[in-house]
Amino acid sequence: MAILITGGAGYIGTHAMVEFLNEGREVVCVDNFCNSNPVALERVKKITGKDFKHYNVDLLDKDALEKVFSKNEIDSCIHFAGLKAVGESCEMPLKYYHNNLTGTFNLCELLSKYRAKKIVFSSSATVYGKPKSVPITEDFPLSTTNPYGETKLMIERVLKDLYESDNEWSVSILRYFNPIGAHESGLIGEDPKGIPNNLLPYVAQVATGKHPYLRIFGNDYDTHDGTGVRDYIHVVDLAKAHLCAIKRAETRKGIEYFNIGTGKGYSVLDIVAAYEKATGATINYKIMERRLGDVGECYADPTKAYELLGWRAEKDIEDMCRDSFRWQSKNPDGYGE
Ligand code: NAD
Ligand code: UFG
Repeated sequence: MAILITGGAGYIGTHAMVEFLNEGREVVCVDNFCNSNPVALERVKKITGKDFKHYNVDLLDKDALEKVFSKNEIDSCIHFAGLKAVGESCEMPLKYYHNNLTGTFNLCELLSKYRAKKIVFSSSATVYGKPKSVPITEDFPLSTTNPYGETKLMIERVLKDLYESDNEWSVSILRYFNPIGAHESGLIGEDPKGIPNNLLPYVAQVATGKHPYLRIFGNDYDTHDGTGVRDYIHVVDLAKAHLCAIKRAETRKGIEYFNIGTGKGYSVLDIVAAYEKATGATINYKIMERRLGDVGECYADPTKAYELLGWRAEKDIEDMCRDSFRWQSKNPDGYGE
């Protein structure tokens, strides 16, 4: 029986594939490479020494997706595939709604038809909007501030309705906080197109000399040093959470929501200091205006994931910075064109 991994060529998907393959699980990957590179899948094979089936298929092409189901014994799914750039989602909302929602509808229809009613969905801390306090627990009120976040919240609601209509489903919704870092081999990592929007890829590019300095968006937040605080989680720890989630889904039906974070908040200046300490690089920075839409502080209470999934983050901020730097240094142009 195989686990279907949608978006398996992406940043988090590749790391998850490594964990599943290392556990001896059979995986089938579908990805249309709209934000990834087939080279990443070759690297997954190199790390694990294992082969797997993969298909260049768009989730929007339901006929092509069905062929993947008819050719493989798919039993469950980890659903990473989606567009994720917040700014772009504001410029092209229809593209985001269509890709993320229609892709999920096609997928769920086929999972249902082929009696593989187990899904782990990649949601995000973005569904908590501007949280009233921290740490955030799963029962906090939900809201969003942009179309990308809205697609995550809408998919959560669709999956809830699906479960309520058919209790044979097992749905695990993982709300990721801020995934960073890379596999310790330095063979796979985050490969953003163009200039990175997120903090860590940008810091990595400053550390390796691609940019002269980091722009820190605001130092007047109500945080210990005024810069924004987030819950950074090592992508390998995050990948392992999917293994725990699918194991639970294999033994019980229902719908559950989990925060996947470390429970610790680090400010932008904390990250700069940690990166310098872990790598020996110098991170120059300038303080700029706040970035529109940013919240001051966001970090998880991950207790529920520990209690029910038996999962907790093991890697610390130094591991995250060191592994990010190794990936960036060994692959200055990511996976290439
Ligand atoms: P990513 O862009 O690296 O990976 C997503 C993959 O999905 C890419 O390989 C892309 O080519 C593929 N894809 C997109 N639309 C597709 C379609 N219609 N058909 C087939 N393949 C398609 O992103 P990631 O960082 O690995 O994120 C994975 C998931 O986790 C996404 O759903 C994202 O929204 C969610 N998430 C990411 C973060 C983060 O900070 N990275 C935080 C919270 C949630
Ligand atoms: N920051 C800078 N300079 C930069 C980039 C970021 O100072 O060049 C700051 C931000 O202001 C924020 C912190 O670094 O305080 C983290 O910013 P990121 O862009 O790395 O991450 P966000 O928390 O803003 O957003 C991420 C994902 C979103 C997701 C959200 C919640 O990018 O998709 O987490 O899960 F919605």
